[in-house]
Amino acid sequence: MNNVLEVDHPVIDIYLTALRDKTTKTAPFRRAMANIGNILAYHALSELPLTEFEVETPIQKTSGFTPSTDVVVIPILRAGLSLVDGIINFIPEAKVGHIGVYRHEETHEPVNYYHNLPNGIEDAFTLVVDPMLATGGSGSHAVKFLKESGAKNIRFVALIAAPEGIERLQTDHPDVPIITASIDEKLNDQAYIIPGLGDAGDRYFGTT
Ligand code: PRP
Ligand code: URA
Repeated sequence: MNNVLEVDHPVIDIYLTALRDKTTKTAPFRRAMANIGNILAYHALSELPLTEFEVETPIQKTSGFTPSTDVVVIPILRAGLSLVDGIINFIPEAKVGHIGVYRHEETHEPVNYYHNLPNGIEDAFTLVVDPMLATGGSGSHAVKFLKESGAKNIRFVALIAAPEGIERLQTDHPDVPIITASIDEKLNDQAYIIPGLGDAGDRYFGTT
């Protein structure tokens, strides 16, 4: 698959196991999500453009670096919020916008219900964040909305991605790289990812 990074790291495997385990309680589930968010952010920001400037250490002058653009993190509500703490822990100066999209229970089609984007999205390095890329409907819809709002430099960060969702996102938005902790097997007939972790939003917010 082009333009997809499946991050391969033993620590990801450990946290992913906790997230998949149906007996994992809310608190460790949240911690594992934050920790993986941190690792995914490390990879998703590997091409962040920097501007060089002069900085003075106590000993002498040397080169320093600062982001050339804003970093904007856009969680797809609700479940996308689960990865935000880990990401902004890694890049605390990031701005956070929000897009509310839910998947209709019967049609599985995305439904928009909210958006709030920071100014300057046109020039920003933007990470769209959602733990689950299943059919890809919600993700594709959110990216389309962002592009219509002017965003150009977009990456999609998903904890778990189904091959079906990757294909949909790449077909609709071939310019958007995908960074994920796991490409899972497929979708079941309810459009849930298998093996997956169940309903990410319900497990993270304790609403099961
Ligand atoms: C989940 C998930 C994605 C979407 C993925 O959200 O967080 O946004 O499903 O499915 P798709 O790729 O088939 O569109 P959900 O609709 O359960 O809403 P929630 O985040 O409010 O729980
Ligand atoms: N949304 C989820 O929360 N989990 C899935 O497996 C698919 C969509």
